[in-house]
Amino acid sequence: MGCTVAIGSQWGDEGKAKMIDYLTEDADIVVRYQGGANAGHTVVVDDKKFVFHLIPSGILHEGKICVIGNGVVLDPVAFLEEVDLLEKKGYDVKDRLIISDSAHFILPYHKAMDSYLENFSNEKIGTTMRGIGPCYSDKCLRIGLRAGDIFDLNMLEKRAADTLRIKNLQLEKIFGGEPFTLEDIMSMLLLFKDKAGSMICNTQEYLHKAVKDRKKILLEGAQGYALDIDHGTYPYVTSSSPTIGGALLGTGLNAFDIDDVIGITKAYVTRVGEGPFPTEADEEQSERIRVNGNEFGATTGRPRRCGWFDIPLLKKAVQINGMNKLAITKLDVLTGFEKIKIGVGYNINGERVDEIPMSKCKHIEPIFIEMDGWGENISKCRSFAELPKNAQAYLNFIEDELNAPITYISVGPGRESTFITEKKQ
Ligand code: GDP
Ligand code: IMO
Ligand code: MG
Repeated sequence: MGCTVAIGSQWGDEGKAKMIDYLTEDADIVVRYQGGANAGHTVVVDDKKFVFHLIPSGILHEGKICVIGNGVVLDPVAFLEEVDLLEKKGYDVKDRLIISDSAHFILPYHKAMDSYLENFSNEKIGTTMRGIGPCYSDKCLRIGLRAGDIFDLNMLEKRAADTLRIKNLQLEKIFGGEPFTLEDIMSMLLLFKDKAGSMICNTQEYLHKAVKDRKKILLEGAQGYALDIDHGTYPYVTSSSPTIGGALLGTGLNAFDIDDVIGITKAYVTRVGEGPFPTEADEEQSERIRVNGNEFGATTGRPRRCGWFDIPLLKKAVQINGMNKLAITKLDVLTGFEKIKIGVGYNINGERVDEIPMSKCKHIEPIFIEMDGWGENISKCRSFAELPKNAQAYLNFIEDELNAPITYISVGPGRESTFITEKKQ
């Protein structure tokens, strides 16, 4: 393995963290490349549950280096809380964490703006309110503050004052909100400098050196393909690029450094927040999947909308990202369904269409086929051969349709419940 990228293939929460934790066994370095504390990444080891928002999901493996790449937007308070929590649980992480000097800070005014914008708009996105959109906007406007800025406090204070003037005007005049003080922002950043300053470096350089030294690097995407700002169901998307382009952009690695792109893919589909979801199940079936799969947001606790596997959506995910391997997660959740639906195309104005129109899939009608389900508990299965015939048929159908090999299968939340399909063993 050189560099491997793990990308969510749907609308997030595919079980990426669980797979990253599993794949970290074979890696030296794990890098988060985009998003921020909007992510909720769950890892379960020995029945203990950890939820990561900013720290890469490989951190539970002793001795592995975890990098927060330049594409991440970093909430300094959320980051320090996460480090604290891990340390309280007995994990020594400070020497294994590296933060890019180019990662942008998410500050309180970003979160306030996120909330005002959501409430102001007639069509809500249903954001996580973690300040993601406003922070990436400031990055593009070139008024953001970056992790490396803390090493020049005079410059930082000047830039923070300039930015704050703009932000406070917007907050007060447009939204009638409360202003933030420079003192509050600076004391937050000074605390961050004190506690995490030693972790900050030029991660682009660090990663290129690691590639040269033949280290194995695992890039961890947050969110998923269909939430991508360019390729997703705009405007119901996040404000970064979870797709392959974002992996390069958010680390500084180049396309030739990447060996494998793994599509982390739930055996069905979920979505949190607003926006189109062509294969969404009816309320009764959605609730059944939600309960079986414990589908509640790891960051906000919101119930996730649930539905059926969507072949055209996945075909696009494979195409856009160059996914050459798939990891199918949460297969166990489908146990007990007499029939399992799979979306294979859409009806648009009475015409069958086999490609998903990402930017306008709000009113399209899915075309489903049904496959027979299985009743056996599969959570102890550790090979493809051990799976019930109908579960094998389900996976074979998906693999054939997508023309991408299913390399990993996950049948439970714990680290031990993942296996490699025997074709690859
Ligand atoms: P992520 O954002 O993609 O990392 O996924 P989340 O952590 O938000 O949501 C995935 C949820 O499913 C978490 O609660 C995981 O512990 C759980 N999970 C992951 N893989 C499996 C699996 O194969 N089976 C079951 N039952 N749960 C899983
Ligand atoms: P992980 O990494 C699922 C969704 C939000 C909202 C939209 C925009 O755990 O898979 P944002 O706060 O990013 O501006 O919200 O994106 N969203 C996610 N949905 N999993 C996530 O992360 C998500 N991060 C953001 O619900 O619809
Ligand atoms: Mg999640």
